Amino acid sequence: MTIATRPASRAAQPGTGDRKVSILGDPIALIRQDHIRQLEICADLESIADSLPHDVDKTLCERLSALLPVSLKLHHKDEERALLPILRQIPQIAETVKTVQDRLEEEHTTDEDFADELAAALADVADLGWPENPEMLGYMLRGYFESHRRHIAWEEAVLLPLADAHLSRSQRHDMAAIMAENRNIQASAH
Ligand SMILES: [Fe+2]
Ligand SMILES: [Fe+2]
Repeated sequence: MTIATRPASRAAQPGTGDRKVSILGDPIALIRQDHIRQLEICADLESIADSLPHDVDKTLCERLSALLPVSLKLHHKDEERALLPILRQIPQIAETVKTVQDRLEEEHTTDEDFADELAAALADVADLGWPENPEMLGYMLRGYFESHRRHIAWEEAVLLPLADAHLSRSQRHDMAAIMAENRNIQASAH
């Protein structure tokens, strides 16, 4: 999914983007915090996989079924609307980012579809109290957290260091303003 970035100058105008930026702080640090949250979710999913078939924590299944798709989609929105388009504005790395953007966005779509399926399966476990098909659930859980950990590791190793090295102050402001929009944070909320 590709969504056009709004004009770079708008977010940096006093009274609009600046207020939103102050709410969110450093946008690259926020992406890293989200990665930590996603890895915590992966660890919880692994603990469910390890507890199959008889010791599954119903409450954890219920919590993750609600949290997983929502948190993942917001994180992808931040990367696809803010991080990647703004990195592509930087001439020295635009080509490099362009070559990885399609692959990353494809993985996002696959992971979101997978997360929706997993959420439905976990909600069923929470309702029933046990997994109807533990082998299938274990396969789904491991497929998701193994591939998602690889995706995050790559972004941490390659994408975020590029952002650290190249994003200017005003580009960080633009990025934070878009991420504020993704959270429906209005300038008046300051
Ligand atoms: Fe990503
Ligand atoms: Fe990410």
